[in-house]
Amino acid sequence: MTDSVSPDLFLPDEKKAWFNHDRFGMFIHWGIYALAARHEWVKSRELIDDAGYQKYFDNFDPDLYDPREWARRAREAGMKYVVLTAKHHDGFCLWDSATTDYKATKTPHGADLLKPFVEAFRAEGLKVGFYYSLLDWHHPDFGIDMYHPLRDREDAAELNKSRDIKRYAEYMRQQVTELLTGYGKIDIIWFDFSYEGRTYKGLPGKGREDWESLELLKLVRKLAPDIIVNNRLDLPTDSPDMTTPEQYTPRTPPMMNGKEVTWEMCQTFSGSWGYYRDEESWKSPAQLIQILIDGVALGGNLLMNVGPTARGTFDQRAIDALEAYGKWMHLHGRAIYGAGRSEYQAPDGCRFTQKGDRLYLHIYNWPNRYLHLDGLAGKVKYAQLLNDASEVLWIGADADPHFVPPVGETTLTLDLPVKKPDVVVPVVELILKDA
Ligand code: GLC
Repeated sequence: MTDSVSPDLFLPDEKKAWFNHDRFGMFIHWGIYALAARHEWVKSRELIDDAGYQKYFDNFDPDLYDPREWARRAREAGMKYVVLTAKHHDGFCLWDSATTDYKATKTPHGADLLKPFVEAFRAEGLKVGFYYSLLDWHHPDFGIDMYHPLRDREDAAELNKSRDIKRYAEYMRQQVTELLTGYGKIDIIWFDFSYEGRTYKGLPGKGREDWESLELLKLVRKLAPDIIVNNRLDLPTDSPDMTTPEQYTPRTPPMMNGKEVTWEMCQTFSGSWGYYRDEESWKSPAQLIQILIDGVALGGNLLMNVGPTARGTFDQRAIDALEAYGKWMHLHGRAIYGAGRSEYQAPDGCRFTQKGDRLYLHIYNWPNRYLHLDGLAGKVKYAQLLNDASEVLWIGADADPHFVPPVGETTLTLDLPVKKPDVVVPVVELILKDA
């Protein structure tokens, strides 16, 4: 494999315009690990072999699965696209793949889960993406490595002798072909993940040579020229379609070669991606909304995850979280869609997002009446709270300095209501004179 990837294997910016505009998507991790209900990595974490994991396959019957309801909830939360785990690391396939029997149609559920999913989300106007795991803890040709459930077996290296990663790479290409040809136009493919160079008890990690990443990427481009491909194929390149920080908010915009790149952070409601019954670390509405704002304020997207139950439903805690988003997005969506980073510096406890002449001030800590915006004196035409379009005044040069803070040369001082508006994060929309 060569050391560089031809730039035409990546999307030009204009093909990513929809993605940079939409800002907010739903990640869905769903598979037979939902029955264990203790993390999608349960097979690896608990070193469960195929025989031990079989009970989840044998009992998989999501009788309440209604993707139209999932799609409605995603749309109502303000999400514009979805990425579903067509296959996760355990190798189980949600679709009726011709390449394997390890799939939904062979479980008691007996039906393909992907077709109705794609149709439902498209019907709600969302773009559709597939997550596809590069790891596969079920495929007989996938070599045992540091994450594999059989990693602690004495004979792991011996077992690896009959495992041929080339056959597995071919299997992946066949599966990706099915996914990109059988379900209409797919907008995103999310490969996960590479760990070249990491070893465990002499078992090597895996990367581009194993996945045959370049060939895989060429195939994807041929089948789906406009699809957005994420950056976890371990390609020797500095220009992936998008970069994917996981479970953290970057402090500065991700850069490559001095240029800001398209990026999307992925986050969970509670720490696990797959359904985890006993997990208690669910984020508050303020945390959820601030994660979204923080990302957009740095010019990025948020892919927020739901892990449906094995009956095919969204857990009540996930529904509450989605509703918190929906309530806020209904009033504040225009500070998110099509908005991005601003050149202005937000005051402490606030973030700016900007779209053309609209500068959005997201206030995390509601101040005691006066809020000082450095560098904005003389630049604002009009200001209003976004939740109710009520005017926000600022202090004029003729104000009595005995009662209000003195007017700064370059600082615009907003005069906010004493009482915080009844929304999780209030936003002031500042209409700029010239942007
Ligand atoms: C990780 C995990 C995985 C999850 C993913 C989401 O790489 O292996 O379980 O699907 O991140 O970003």
